[in-house]
Order: sequence, then structure tokens, then C-alpha cells
Amino acid sequence: MNKFLLMASVATFALTMIACGDKPKETAATETVAPAAVDPEIAKGEEIFLQNCASCHGEKGAGDGAAAAALNPKPRNFKAPVSEWKNGNTVAAITKTLNEGIKGSPMVAYKHLGNDNIATVAKYVEYLGKN
Ligand code: HEC
Repeated sequence: MNKFLLMASVATFALTMIACGDKPKETAATETVAPAAVDPEIAKGEEIFLQNCASCHGEKGAGDGAAAAALNPKPRNFKAPVSEWKNGNTVAAITKTLNEGIKGSPMVAYKHLGNDNIATVAKYVEYLGKN
């Protein structure tokens, strides 16, 4: 065996020993994913939204509900920048939209839901805008 080969095999052996020596321990993935709606008010808002709004706004508020294609103007995508909103995307502005509707659009008033439900679903719309 020539000198070079000998040195190369010694080096390989040493590297193998080092590599085996500090093999990282496998860590088990124990983290659990939190359910989407943990806050009961958000859960209630989701229920109202799915019953009254999702047909136009889509289940996640992306403006892509089953009825959306036929509508003009299109239902708001709740993740759209505030510049695309007519009343605005704060809870107060969403509450105004729900109480008054938007004139000349398929977005009618939802006053009949009552103040509590309007407050709850307005909070949920804000939540959808951020999640
Ligand atoms: C018949 C379809 C339809 C239903 C049902 C509907 N919307 Fe809309 N919504 C629209 C359309 C269309 C627009 C866009 C109006 C516009 O741009 O003039 C809109 C706009 C909005 C906006 C944005 C207002 C803004 O400032 O631009 C909010 C908030 C909203 N809807 C919330 C809701 C909520 C909450 C419900 C359920 C309680 C609901 N909508 C039900 C069609 C609908």
C-alpha cells in the first residue's frame, strides 16, 4: 500500500468514528396543532357566518362562495387590502355594513340577526381577514 492510500484510509476511518460519535438524537414531534376555533366567540361567529354569509363570501371569506360568480360587484374577499373595502375592515365598519347593507349591491343589511349576533359575526369577519 502506498503512503497516500494509507493516509487516506486512516483519515476516512477517523472521520467515520467522529461522525458516529456525535450522531444527533432524534426528537419526537410531540407538539399538537391547536384547533382553528378555540375562542367560543370565534366558534359562534363561524356558525353564524357559515349559515348566513358563506354562500357568497366563501367558507373562509375569500369571496368565492357558490353564488359569487353570478354577483356584481363581487363579494368582498376579507383578506383584501383596506383600500378595496367600501366601509372598511374594522369591527366598527363591518358592524355598520351589517346594519345598513351596501346600497346598490347584493350585500344587504343583516339587522334581523340582532345586535349580539352582528357583533359576533363582525368579530369573526375581522378574524377571517387575519387568518
Ligand atoms: C347575496 C350574497 C351575500 C351574502 C349572503 C352576504 N354578502 Fe357580504 N357582500 C356581498 C357583496 C357582493 C359585497 C361587495 C359589496 C360592494 O362592493 O358593494 C359584500 C361585502 C361585504 C363586506 C365588505 C363591506 C365593505 O366595507 O366593503 C362585508 C364586511 C360583508 N359583506 C360581510 C358579510 C357578512 C358578515 C355576511 C353574513 C351575515 C354577508 N356579508 C352576507 C355579498 C353577500
